[in-house]
Amino acid sequence: MKPKVYITRRIPKEAMDIIAGRCEYRIWDREDEAVPRDVLEAEVGDVDGLFSLLTERIDERLLDRAPRLKVVANMAVGYDNIDVAACMRRGITVTNTPGVLTETTADLAFSLMMAAARRVTEAERFLREGKWKTWSPMLLTGVDLYGKTLGIIGLGRIGQAVARRARGFSMRVLYTSDRPHPDLEAGLGVERCDLDGLLKESDFVSIHVPLTDRTRGMIGRRELSLMKPTAVLVNTSRGAVVREQELIETLREKRIFAAGLDVFETEPLPQDSPLLELDNVVLLPHIGSASIATRTKMAVMAAENLVRLLSGQEPLNPVTV
Ligand code: GLV
Repeated sequence: MKPKVYITRRIPKEAMDIIAGRCEYRIWDREDEAVPRDVLEAEVGDVDGLFSLLTERIDERLLDRAPRLKVVANMAVGYDNIDVAACMRRGITVTNTPGVLTETTADLAFSLMMAAARRVTEAERFLREGKWKTWSPMLLTGVDLYGKTLGIIGLGRIGQAVARRARGFSMRVLYTSDRPHPDLEAGLGVERCDLDGLLKESDFVSIHVPLTDRTRGMIGRRELSLMKPTAVLVNTSRGAVVREQELIETLREKRIFAAGLDVFETEPLPQDSPLLELDNVVLLPHIGSASIATRTKMAVMAAENLVRLLSGQEPLNPVTV
């Protein structure tokens, strides 16, 4: 008998083919709407495997309803939506999709740095709103990126990929990390620094840590107050690493130059968020890894993890806590 699987969203055909060949599946077959919690709770009742997205909270309550579950294959590198410890206690394997999204996400972090520094989205709004009357010496002037100092918080795969890009812009690169990386310091030309020092010295600060109990809220009023008034903060990791309300106050009072955010404490960003009223922030709807090729690779990787585990093979990308 084929294992039973639930898939929480419409996913690329390449990934569906992998699952359909080996499993019996049901799917929340929508593109733009997450599976409602009550539907998910009912659907997991008889499944051996779950193909999930970061929009699903996989917690004790859900696991209680899934007595046969053996694997949760998350189509994301981050897995803060999953209570991994609870899964492990129940012998459920959790997998993620590392590596395949590294360069795509680093590209987006760089796009946000440049867009926030040069006021790209604000300038486009200005033009579309018919406000462009004439070329003017100081109209929509921003800050330069070339040759400046970049601070990378968390020198994992994506942080390193951002550092590689920074070399092409002749940037000095500082990083924070729990442990020194002498090999990377030599190879990438980066310097390790403590967080306060990095915040004080950097013209651009880009966040690349996963969301954990230790990183939740790690950038708040105190940290933001250490940044230069001309500095730009970029977050492509998880919204809750930054205390959003404190960032809003900092931006409103123009105590830093700008921010570029792809992630938020609450997603989707509520329509009444004060962020929407600020010009000095570029806002994106969590599209860090959103190239066609990369999202397809992520879906295929998650599908392979799911199917491998259910057919008695080692999954390629198990995660632990
Ligand atoms: C996206 O945010 C991911 O973790 O893959």
